Amino acid sequence: MGFKTKLKDVLIGTLSDEELLLLPRGFQTIGNVVIIKLNPKLMGKKKKIGEKYLELLPSIKSVYLNSGRVKGQFRTPEKIEYLVGVKNSIIKHKEHGVIYKFDFTKIMFSMGNLSERKFLATLVKEGEIIVDMFAGIGYFSLPIAKHSKPKKIFSIELNPDSFNYLNENIELNHCENIITPIKGDSKIEVIKLSKSGLKADRVIMGVFPAPKDFINEALTLAKAEGTIYHYEGIVDKEKYLGLFNEFKEIAERNDYKCDLLTKRFVKSYGPGLYHVVFDIKVHKK
Ligand SMILES: C[S@@+](CC[C@H](N)C(=O)[O-])C[C@H]1O[C@@H](n2cnc3c(N)ncnc32)[C@H](O)[C@@H]1O
Repeated sequence: MGFKTKLKDVLIGTLSDEELLLLPRGFQTIGNVVIIKLNPKLMGKKKKIGEKYLELLPSIKSVYLNSGRVKGQFRTPEKIEYLVGVKNSIIKHKEHGVIYKFDFTKIMFSMGNLSERKFLATLVKEGEIIVDMFAGIGYFSLPIAKHSKPKKIFSIELNPDSFNYLNENIELNHCENIITPIKGDSKIEVIKLSKSGLKADRVIMGVFPAPKDFINEALTLAKAEGTIYHYEGIVDKEKYLGLFNEFKEIAERNDYKCDLLTKRFVKSYGPGLYHVVFDIKVHKK
């Protein structure tokens, strides 16, 4: 029996027939927390519904309700509220040998990006110098530091909450010798790094919307013999090359040549829309 059917069964009598049909099909699990989304017509009975999740899922200790989106420059969740169970929104999520500690009411964590968090680390070669321009709590920096053999990762993050967790996660995962966290705006911090003489083998530009306004700064880290840029955004699947061309035009204006090494569609983002990732090799013309 599917979960929705079980949920319906235990809510017969509490919800009307019409309300039973509006129950969600799925839910998100992080650690021992379930995060649900509800049809607005069910909001009056949100706690009663939450209680049934606890009853049906023995390993789950808390239920939270997500009724907003991920928004703004810091990519923060708009509204995740406590419903029932243990009230603790700070969790340690273990994934692919990495511990991510964060407060899920303040910081986004996309389960849909799991494959990319794993895959990116497999591309990194021994001894690489990496700049992670939008590091967050260490989404990419941590798996790379744990599973590959980079020489150094400079991880830049602007949001103070995320930056604090980035520092904690570096310690929790014993990556202090590899990851150097930098608090600040990557537009400024990247220039400081390049003025100090740093050149990178790989630059990670993982933020939405696609960070077009940061390409000029990111290019100052390019090595004459070549640097790989991880560039991502949301695209119409049929026209995904438009996003690569946006990067290429700016690079060519700066006298760099671009080759698209690989592209990956990470997840669906709405009708016809996809989260795409490019690995772009940039070198001097
Ligand atoms: C949410 S993460 C992207 C995560 C990754 N793509 C994933 O989904 O797993 C993007 C991070 O960039 C940070 N950020 C946004 N603008 C920034 C800037 N100008 N400089 C440094 N960090 C920035 C945000 O605070 C956020 O933590």
